[in-house]
Amino acid sequence: MSLLEVRDLHVEFHTRDGVAKAVNGVSYEVDSGETLAVLGESGSGKSVTAQAVMGILDIPPGRIAAGEIVFQGRDLLKLPEAERRKIRGSKMAMIFQDALSSLNPVLTVGYQLGEMFRVHQGASRKEARERAVELMERVRIPAARERVGDYPHQFSGGMRQRIMIAMALALEPDLIIADEPTTALDVTVQAQVMELLAELQREFNMGLILITHDLGVVADVADKIAVMYAGRIVETAPVKELYRAPAHPYTRGLLDSIPRLDQKGHQLSAIKGMPPSLLEIPPACAFNPRCPMARPVCRTDEPPLYEVSEDRASACHFWKEMPDVP
Ligand SMILES: Nc1ncnc2c1ncn2[C@@H]1O[C@H](COP(=O)(O)OP(=O)(O)OP(=O)(O)O)[C@@H](O)[C@H]1O
Ligand code: SF4
Ligand SMILES: [Mg+2]
Repeated sequence: MSLLEVRDLHVEFHTRDGVAKAVNGVSYEVDSGETLAVLGESGSGKSVTAQAVMGILDIPPGRIAAGEIVFQGRDLLKLPEAERRKIRGSKMAMIFQDALSSLNPVLTVGYQLGEMFRVHQGASRKEARERAVELMERVRIPAARERVGDYPHQFSGGMRQRIMIAMALALEPDLIIADEPTTALDVTVQAQVMELLAELQREFNMGLILITHDLGVVADVADKIAVMYAGRIVETAPVKELYRAPAHPYTRGLLDSIPRLDQKGHQLSAIKGMPPSLLEIPPACAFNPRCPMARPVCRTDEPPLYEVSEDRASACHFWKEMPDVP
C-alpha cells in the first residue's frame, strides 16, 4: 500500500463566468521515502490537487466533484474535519513558495517554531525554545542559538525558506508537499534549499511531493514525475527516463524550453500558444491546439493514459512515434 494514493480526483470552481474544471481525473501515488515531482505550466492544477490532499481547498467556490485521496489506508475525503485537522501538521505538512507571507512578521521565528511543540505536544516555553534551536540547526541556519529570537524579516529569502522547512518538519510528518518551494529564490540558493529538502526527506524517510514548473530544479532530487496539462496528468515516468526520452509532445516541449548545460548553443523553444481556459478546455486531447504532432483523431477521441512500460504512461495517441521510447 502506498503512503498516499490520489485516485481519479476531480475539482471544479464555480465562478461567475462558469465552471472552471481545474482538476480532471488526476491519479498519482507516493511511497514513504519517495519523491514525486509534479510538473506543469501555470494553471495546470498542480496546487489545487495539493490543496485537496492537504484539505485546505477553498470550498466554495471549489468543489471536489469526484475521486478518492487515500492516505495511510484511509480515504481523507470521508473523514470528519476534526480528524483531517489532526492529520494536517502532524502527519502531512506543506511548504509554500512565499515564506514571508506564511510566517507571522510580529513573532520571532523561535516562537513560531516552538509553538508547534507547545500546541501539539504540550512543551514548556523553555523546552519549545530548545526544540526550535535544534530545528534551526537541522536546517543549517548559522548561529541558530543567537538567532532564535530574530524576526522573519531579519533573515534572507533562502534562510526564511529553511525556516519554513523546519516548521514543516517539526512534528516529523510522513508526507511533505512543497509547492514551488524555491521559485522565489535565486538560482544558487534554489539548489541549496532543494538539496537540503532532499536530504531531510531521506533522513526521515518521508514521502515528498515537489510541485514545480521548472524541471531543471527537481531533476536531481525526484524519483518520478507526473506532468500535468489542463487538470490532467499527461505523462508519468521515472525522472531519468522522462528526461532521456519523453513520451508526450507536451513534455518534449517543456524539456526543450530549459537550457541544458550538456547542449551548448541549444535553442530555447518554448511551447507555442497559451494554456487553455479551464472554462473551455479543448475537446479530446486538450493539448491539440498547441501540439506539433496533432491529427484529426486528437480533436475527436480523448487519449487515455496509455501504458508505455511498467512504470511509464503517456496520454498521447501517438506516443510510439516519440523518439527512443520506451
Ligand atoms: N480559489 C479559486 N477560485 C477560483 N478558481 C480557482 C481557485 N483556485 C484555483 N482556481 C482555478 O484552478 C486553476 C488551477 O490552479 P492551480 O493553482 O492548481 O494551478 P497551478 O498548476 O498550481 O499553477 P501555478 O504554476 O501558477 O501555481 C486556476 O487556473 C484557476 O482557474
Ligand atoms: S494526442 Fe494528438 S494532440 Fe494530443 S499530444 Fe498526442 S499527438 Fe498531440
Ligand atoms: Mg500553483
